[in-house]
Amino acid sequence: MKRTLTAVVLLTAMTTVNAAPFEKGDPKIGKTLVDKSCLSCHAQMFGGDGSKIYTRADRKVKTPQQLAARVAACNANTGANWFPEDEMHVDAYLNQQYYKFK
Ligand code: HEC
Repeated sequence: MKRTLTAVVLLTAMTTVNAAPFEKGDPKIGKTLVDKSCLSCHAQMFGGDGSKIYTRADRKVKTPQQLAARVAACNANTGANWFPEDEMHVDAYLNQQYYKFK
């Protein structure tokens, strides 16, 4: 019994760590938002699905804070009109998929 409890606690702790630093965002919603409002322009610049913009060697975003700032700026620039929760979903998606900040 004690063992099971330890396992549960450990698992919960690990899940929390994995979801950080944008744990409140939902990556699935984020992907939908990015596919709709952001892909075409990045794809024109980098080809394919445009995701190279996030994985190129000299990418600009180096911290979770910069990611949040960049998403907020692109949201404003492109007139996507996202709510702060939407930005959080997008942060979570881009982080889970590409940036992998812990
Ligand atoms: C009109 C074109 C355009 C649209 C639309 C656009 N972006 Fe961008 N985005 C850019 C350009 C250009 C850069 C590269 C800037 C640089 O290299 O300094 C960029 C860079 C980024 C980066 C940083 C990549 C790195 O270097 O790490 C992120 C994150 C990003 N965009 C997110 C978004 C999101 C989210 C949206 C949707 C709201 C979006 N962009 C829509 C043009 C666009």
